[in-house]
Amino acid sequence: MIPAAGLGTRFLPATKAMPKEMLPVVDKPAIQYVVEEATAAGIDDVLIIIGRNKNNLSNHFDSVPELESTLERKGDHSKLAKVQHSSELADIHFVRQGEPKGLGHAVLRAKAHVGDHPFAVLLGDDLIDERDPLLTTMLDEHTKRGAAIVALMEVDPDSIHLYGAAAVEATDDEGVVKVTGLVEKPAKEDAPSNLAIIGRYVLSPSVFEILERTEPGKGGEIQLTDALQEMAADPDGPGVYGVVFRGRRYDTGDRVDYIKAIVQLAADREDLGPELRPWFKDFAAKL
Ligand code: G1P
Repeated sequence: MIPAAGLGTRFLPATKAMPKEMLPVVDKPAIQYVVEEATAAGIDDVLIIIGRNKNNLSNHFDSVPELESTLERKGDHSKLAKVQHSSELADIHFVRQGEPKGLGHAVLRAKAHVGDHPFAVLLGDDLIDERDPLLTTMLDEHTKRGAAIVALMEVDPDSIHLYGAAAVEATDDEGVVKVTGLVEKPAKEDAPSNLAIIGRYVLSPSVFEILERTEPGKGGEIQLTDALQEMAADPDGPGVYGVVFRGRRYDTGDRVDYIKAIVQLAADREDLGPELRPWFKDFAAKL
């Protein structure tokens, strides 16, 4: 499931009539990277939790017969493939969140669709480089341990207040830690570590029962982190484990990070990089 019901106020006015998940990162909406990441890990059923301005999102993953036939007539097969790709990616469903009451509340909206199966939550503000697999490892760990799995990444301690922070213990597996506690957006001095939850989770449906009675937490919102903290603290349950990610992650959550993500991704692209890289160097030299 991909929550996409936020108001995107940091990007106004771009997000006045368009969800922030539709902002282009180079030439693809941010959410398409996330759907592609899910399908690359073998997930073919995607539920997007939407807020207002949902039409842009559903149209993007739908076919556009008039555009497709024009491109076909012109014989522009490479553009046609780009148009068709996003509508063929996965079986995509939409559910409305109604009032945006936090990430935990958004996840709860997936309950009926999820049924009895484990599921992954992917947040659109975090883009994971396709060359550095994370979700596949998390799915494997979930299968192996039956526990909730979160993706963790070391961040600058000065930034930990922007994330859920984890207290952890080592396991016998390199890159996998046992999560003993979680705090949503702690002050630097209260943070149990500088290991931040980045926006990837693999969960069992048992999380819904906890979320249903989770009281609003930080910011007056129902926090997924608080439900996971309850799981981590339950000595009789399967617990929570973290996969520590050391690969390339692009944050698109605020304007500066969003611009950095575009610059990094464009510079790496085969079709754009050769022209852009010398220009970036030249531009940077003049700053
Ligand atoms: C959410 C979660 C937080 C997590 C973050 C990752 O916060 O609540 O625990 O660390 O995503 O991006 P948000 O950034 O949506 O406020």
